[in-house]
Amino acid sequence: MIRRILHSSLLFLLLLENSIADSNDDIAIYWGQNDGEGTLTETCATGRYSYVILAFLNNFGNGTVPAINLASHCDPLTDECKTLSTDIKNCQMQGIKVFLSIGGADGNYSLASSDDAKNVSDYLWNSFLGGKSSPSLRPLGDAVFDGIDFDIEISPPQHWEELARYLKSHSTPARKVYLSAAPQCPFPDAELGNALSTELFDYVWVQFYNNPGCEYADGDVNDLLNSWNQWAISLKNGKVFLGLPASREAASDGYVPVNVLVTDILPVIKKSPNYGGVMLWTTYYDIQTGYSNSIKSFSCTQQNHNECKGNDEHKGKKWWIWLIVGVGAAFAIICFVLCLCCVLRRKENSQVDGKLDKKISLTEERTSNEVKVFSFESTTAASNSFSSINKVGEGDFGPVYKVVQ
Ligand SMILES: *[C@@H]1O[C@H](CO)[C@@H](O)[C@H](O)[C@H]1NC(C)=O
Ligand SMILES: *[C@@H]1O[C@H](CO)[C@@H](O)[C@H](O)[C@H]1NC(C)=O
Ligand SMILES: *[C@@H]1O[C@H](CO)[C@@H](O)[C@H](O)[C@H]1NC(C)=O
Repeated sequence: MIRRILHSSLLFLLLLENSIADSNDDIAIYWGQNDGEGTLTETCATGRYSYVILAFLNNFGNGTVPAINLASHCDPLTDECKTLSTDIKNCQMQGIKVFLSIGGADGNYSLASSDDAKNVSDYLWNSFLGGKSSPSLRPLGDAVFDGIDFDIEISPPQHWEELARYLKSHSTPARKVYLSAAPQCPFPDAELGNALSTELFDYVWVQFYNNPGCEYADGDVNDLLNSWNQWAISLKNGKVFLGLPASREAASDGYVPVNVLVTDILPVIKKSPNYGGVMLWTTYYDIQTGYSNSIKSFSCTQQNHNECKGNDEHKGKKWWIWLIVGVGAAFAIICFVLCLCCVLRRKENSQVDGKLDKKISLTEERTSNEVKVFSFESTTAASNSFSSINKVGEGDFGPVYKVVQ
């Protein structure tokens, strides 16, 4: 009984916690393409990111020997990159989802056929996900990525939807295989259009940069907002992220000053039910500018901004959620204490019963010890056969006789 109540209370709290963790303030960040951006563990330790995407596996498919490129972070030709397993696990222990990004703007990759898509899927599954293969075939060690990110920019558009299906077929409720994609903002994406229409992607971070016509430019947010709407409406499953450069240097164009983002863009796009958050390119530039930090803390220094109200509302929402959690916890504790009391009381009662039993038997003993009991014959003799001469009065229990010696 107690266990059942505790169990359901805990479940309730866990569900609530999940809904908190699912709040739409998530930031996804690319890591791995710049020197001087710190380790993966350091990146995750900032606590700013919910998704970290390792970039890139940029050689694969069509018979190309698969190869990873992580700038100067590690040399993939040695075993050096295997130490990343520890970092990946560190990130995951903080609840951060870690993706391996395949593709990028520079590399040799394509899928030549359905068989090739299957071959690449097997390679990804066995070398980076939950599949089994010898340590020598796992370039980044034994850590299991949460998912694969499709950043397909320089390849024919064929067979990517097949790769997505093969990868997703490994997903189980116990261990999900997440899929994400980083299409360019012109809709539909030239390479990933077919893949995205499978609706198998959990996260779609659209690149609103290096794409004049659907990005922010010269103080005008309309191109970006129109494009956003098209993306948000078209994707039925999964969450849509606003992909932005984390500094002016991070892209040729499309940089959005933080004040424009939080006043003119976020309040609008957050109304999309599948809004997920902001994706930033990359950790290196985010360290330079503190862009992600500014997104989170900007507006309330300027009390008149709408977004500040939005933030307050958001804080209010969180406050409510925490209140519910608090009440839930209090309820669980009260239930627990009540049940404990019930059980203790029941135990005590059975002990009291025992004591009473003892008391009664003690009384009986005393009765038989201290009160003299006479037989009917001797009583008859003593009272002279209950003769009325010897009767001295009447008590509650009957007549009282004088004993005749
Ligand atoms: C299949 O993928 C492996 C990498 O896992 C590659 O070495 C091999 O050449 C691929 N086979 C074909 C037929 O593309
Ligand atoms: C692509 O393949 C060619 C030929 O194998 C190679 O010289 C080149 O370095 C590769 N490019 C990348 C970015 O790996
Ligand atoms: C695969 O490689 C062959 C030969 O190297 C090339 O002719 C063909 O265009 C490539 N196919 C794709 C889809 O990249």
